[in-house]
Amino acid sequence: MSWPWQTIIEPFKIKTVEPLGFTTRAEREKALADAGYNVFHVPADKVLIDLLTDSGTSAMSAEQWAALMRGDESYAGARSFFRFEKTVRDLTGLREVIPVHQGRAAERILFSFLGGPGKTVLANAHFDTTRANIEVSGAKAIDLPVPEAWDFQNPSPFKGDIDTRQLEAAIQEHGAKNIPMVILTVTNNALGGQPVSMRNIRDTAEICSQYRIPLFLDCARFAENAYLIKRRERGYATRPVRDIAREMFSYAQGCMMSAKKDALVNIGGFVALNDAEWAKAARQELILGEGFPTYGGLAGRDLEAMARGLEEILDEEYLQYRIRSVEYLGDGLKDAGVPIITPTGGHGVYVDAKRFLGHIPPNQYPGQALVCELYLTGGIRAVEIGSLMFGRGRNGDFTPAKMELVRLAIPRRVYTQSHIDYVIEVFRELAQRKDSMRGLKLVEGFEHLNHFMAKLAPL
Ligand code: F0G
Repeated sequence: MSWPWQTIIEPFKIKTVEPLGFTTRAEREKALADAGYNVFHVPADKVLIDLLTDSGTSAMSAEQWAALMRGDESYAGARSFFRFEKTVRDLTGLREVIPVHQGRAAERILFSFLGGPGKTVLANAHFDTTRANIEVSGAKAIDLPVPEAWDFQNPSPFKGDIDTRQLEAAIQEHGAKNIPMVILTVTNNALGGQPVSMRNIRDTAEICSQYRIPLFLDCARFAENAYLIKRRERGYATRPVRDIAREMFSYAQGCMMSAKKDALVNIGGFVALNDAEWAKAARQELILGEGFPTYGGLAGRDLEAMARGLEEILDEEYLQYRIRSVEYLGDGLKDAGVPIITPTGGHGVYVDAKRFLGHIPPNQYPGQALVCELYLTGGIRAVEIGSLMFGRGRNGDFTPAKMELVRLAIPRRVYTQSHIDYVIEVFRELAQRKDSMRGLKLVEGFEHLNHFMAKLAPL
């Protein structure tokens, strides 16, 4: 990297701006109560800094907006599709490219014919929609992260790795023929946006090939993972990130992508794979629910913007700024006495609410309690990744999640350093009065993806 200065600057200037949603404390109290203490139901114009997700929230570049005008809106065989297909093939080396409207459509399509009762899918960690789509099919989803992933203070560089010993044991236990695929989620969103090392991808591929199980990458954040390999793994420091990304994909038989992350678009996704039979089954399902195989639930212009975004994301000046700005927020929170998952990873900072609010038990949703406090105090919207998202049952038969996290996801190219300084200042205030914060109770729950729709009330 040629940048010789201490200050890592935003590698863009701003052409279009939007106002932030300033509110009074009283307005926020009302908005939160109206939302059933679930910030998914707070109107966005009542949010000041929106760190709910990095998904679909990127600012597109001038070149992406220009690409929209080049969109070919032909129903079949659009020029935009072929441009998109070439970009994905060049990046992944995979032949069959199937566009979908977003990541979970890729999951639903694949598990409609690969899932089902008796099947088991193994991963470093499934994200919520992936797990839900597998389970809805009747199959089981099992997470096998390395043990240090659960030690949030452990400074290990690749806590996104899958535990290869447990992987072999699980394959033997469930039987290779019942395992349609092994998934590596890069980076691991459920456990801190932590990267997966190239060595782990290679080792996993070797095990998979021994048992003839396809390896898939859930590659929503592949570029952030590739950049973290460059920074943290021996032998990659001088390799271009594009090459590192290509090498990552070279070990996989397929991938599914929510393009709303590292393709820098507001909507889009794809499946890419080599197996012609699976591609045929996927296209059959695609036509039923998404659209013709050359547009898959998107407009031609969306395919153009994705193709352009997949190029821009590999810009190393951008990735240096991106990873540094996440680390900057993490450093600020640590300084304020807020426990976070360290080291910081790709797309956001994860606060360990179990430690921060040790006096609130899991069945009173400490993560969600912190999410609500953040909103009430600073108009900041975050997301709980804990018992509201992954816990099961309630009251008597409540099984908590293994972690109680609050994710502060940073939208790409949207906020500047002063926004982040403000977030740190709000946390500093919260840290001083954390012992007076109280938990919540679940008023209305849902069987799948509870956190999106649940209603809660303060205790
Ligand atoms: N896989 C991963 C790793 C994800 O993070 C997501 C979405 C999906 C698949 C599903 O993609 O939203 O396009 O349907 N994650 C978002 C988030 C929602 O906030 O982390 P989608």
